[in-house]
Amino acid sequence: MQEKLIDGKAIAEQIKKEIAAETAAIIDAGKRAPHLAAVLVGNDPASETYVASKEKACRQVGITSSTYRLPEKTSEKELLNIINFLNKDEEIDGFIVQLPLPAHLNADSIIEHINPHKDVDGFHPVNTGRMMAGLPSYLPATPFGIIELLHRSGIQTAGKHVVVIGRSNIVGTPVSVLLSRKSPKGNATVTLCHSQTVNLPELTKQADILIAAIGVPSFVKADMVKHGAVVIDVGIHRITDDKAEKGYVIKGDVDFDEVVKVASRITPVPGGVGPLTIVSLLSNTLAANQKKIYQ
Ligand code: GUN
Repeated sequence: MQEKLIDGKAIAEQIKKEIAAETAAIIDAGKRAPHLAAVLVGNDPASETYVASKEKACRQVGITSSTYRLPEKTSEKELLNIINFLNKDEEIDGFIVQLPLPAHLNADSIIEHINPHKDVDGFHPVNTGRMMAGLPSYLPATPFGIIELLHRSGIQTAGKHVVVIGRSNIVGTPVSVLLSRKSPKGNATVTLCHSQTVNLPELTKQADILIAAIGVPSFVKADMVKHGAVVIDVGIHRITDDKAEKGYVIKGDVDFDEVVKVASRITPVPGGVGPLTIVSLLSNTLAANQKKIYQ
């Protein structure tokens, strides 16, 4: 059972060690530490958790982190003032605007104001466009994490049939692009499924690697998975459970207890893809500091 599990936490710790060593070398050379900033508008609890995890991970590897907390009622003009300040501040290598934003703010137009060279989330159209064209770019954290997780777990993607469920701009669409492109960590044949897909189980059963990023708890059942497939679960849901110590349990998009019986490898939730997401943001920040992606 143990070797079936893809241990995202252990892989993330290994990558953090590598980032910490590179960061220490920068500081030893007399340069300032890489610096990641986050802008948080309002008090969405999931966003608070994400920003707190980011701050902790930065501390662990020696990256400076700062968080700009703005009230729920912040206007677009006020938010753009902060973004313009971060765009220009030479002490800050990269920053993210935490999503979701309150309903009165348009995330797409806000993201377009981020300097693409500082867009360590990889959400700016310059970065998504460069990624589509196969040019160097900041890669969005979750897809970047999935690619790294597969690679470091020794799972080959070349020639494999990958089926992705979910076409979001943050996960499904970019991971499909990355896995299908001509590169050592790609070269897969990818099928991207979504809410209008007809006969979904027929397609998912053909997957050598199944990626669930649909946002519905325990959606993927054993009868949707080919025997011996690799299953990557991107979902993360808090499910109320009075019997659990905390009053809730964390579930993914995959019915783990069922699917673990047919999969050859599977990511747990928590402890699978999640830990890689923050680490990818750290990697992007380090690259921004080193001006390693593109200039
Ligand atoms: N909200 C959930 N995931 C993310 C992420 O990766 N980046 C940002 N900015 N917001 C998020």
